[in-house]
Amino acid sequence: MMKTVTIVGLGYVGLPLACLCADKGFKVYGLDIDQTKVDSVNRQISPIDDDYISNKLRNLKNKIIATTSASECIPASEVIVVCVPTPVDRNNSPDITALMESISTISKFIKQNTLLVVESTIYPGTIEEIVIPILKKQRFDACKNDVFVAHCPERIDPGNKKWTIENLPRVVGGITKEAAKKAAEFYRGIISADIIELSSVKAAEATKIMENTFRDVNIAFVNEMAKSFDKAGIDILEVIKGASTKPFAFMPHYPGAGVGGHCIPVDPYYLIEKAKQIGFNHKFLSLAREINNSMPDYTVELLEGELKKLKKSIKGAKVGVLGLAYKANVDDIRESPAFEIINILKTKGADVFVFDPHVKKGINVNGIDELLNKSDYIILATDHNEFRNMDMEKLKKHKILAVIDGRNCLDNEKIKAMGILYHGIGRH
Ligand SMILES: NC(=O)c1ccc[n+]([C@@H]2O[C@H](COP(=O)([O-])OP(=O)(O)OC[C@H]3O[C@@H](n4cnc5c(N)ncnc54)[C@H](O)[C@@H]3O)[C@@H](O)[C@H]2O)c1
Repeated sequence: MMKTVTIVGLGYVGLPLACLCADKGFKVYGLDIDQTKVDSVNRQISPIDDDYISNKLRNLKNKIIATTSASECIPASEVIVVCVPTPVDRNNSPDITALMESISTISKFIKQNTLLVVESTIYPGTIEEIVIPILKKQRFDACKNDVFVAHCPERIDPGNKKWTIENLPRVVGGITKEAAKKAAEFYRGIISADIIELSSVKAAEATKIMENTFRDVNIAFVNEMAKSFDKAGIDILEVIKGASTKPFAFMPHYPGAGVGGHCIPVDPYYLIEKAKQIGFNHKFLSLAREINNSMPDYTVELLEGELKKLKKSIKGAKVGVLGLAYKANVDDIRESPAFEIINILKTKGADVFVFDPHVKKGINVNGIDELLNKSDYIILATDHNEFRNMDMEKLKKHKILAVIDGRNCLDNEKIKAMGILYHGIGRH
């Protein structure tokens, strides 16, 4: 008989998973609190600007039933996967409200023997300390396998065409051995990559945090190198290229105008804050966050440096910001450093024009041409293909005086040859 799965949270993580499960023959419900998203999925229109999901939804024709009603889908499901957001609050403390609320709702309708997997990124201890007690309130003892509770952190990298939800290896950890086994079986049924069972749910929780913290500290390291090399007149990209020729023990990371998205700038805080509670101070992780958080300021300082050469002030300067999304070729603006760059520019009295071909909210011009026309200076905040492949002659045509390349993706020599000032992150 066809198994039924409910995916809770139809976002960047939940939607591809719902599509994959439907593809693999499950009856799929998508439970979300956002009626607009639910309606959109039921009309087979992706609420996310993502070709993979758009195509899948179109081809899957009604195979995913989206709903806001837990009573409609939870009791009917043998598998429930939770993909709700886990952000930080204003003080950078973990905000697990969505997780608690969703588990609380699920616990009211879940059947015995159901497999309940949390995919959301969580700090080590969340399942044991938060999820299990909520289930217990409804008399489900996960430690006795009344329901099978496991964690399988998601690794999806939206926009990545090589590594997709279907071929990324995954780790799972269960509250019990049986729960881990059941979760691993479920994922082996839908994913064509290794599914590794860890010995505890905490180890699975910690794995995800370690992966993303690894990225954050390495990006901070290379950002610091870029700032230092900038002073020494050394091109960071050339150095990274050089270091990358070492066949072992070096892995390239790239500097930039800031770290954004729902994961890298958020997940380290999950560990930093949790570790504090149990008496450990993550100095290194906190420093990495500090360095990465300083990059929007640094980017604007680079512009001020170029303005100084032109004997101009930032006050009243007409600055065009290219890109609002946190990374190339996606529409996701969460934690995007572009917003901080714009705020700093405005605070310093600049006139700011913003364009992003993937984002509708927050832009104030209709295209690259209008932005170039209205601006004297450019800060590139996102390396979308539309900006990378832009005809550089346009910069000259629109009399741009200086370019700050926050993603080191433009042809610096070409720009300089046109008599335009250029400054990248660790690159002149
Ligand atoms: N975006 C990524 O690239 C990525 C990658 C790996 C892991 N993650 C992790 O996956 C989780 C989800 O991230 P996302 O990017 O998909 O978030 P998202 O904001 O895109 O989607 C989350 C969805 O959950 C819904 N939701 C919120 N509260 C709910 C509730 N109580 N019940 C039902 N639905 C609810 C929201 O309406 C939204 O549609 C997070 O923990 C994140 O850290 C994200």
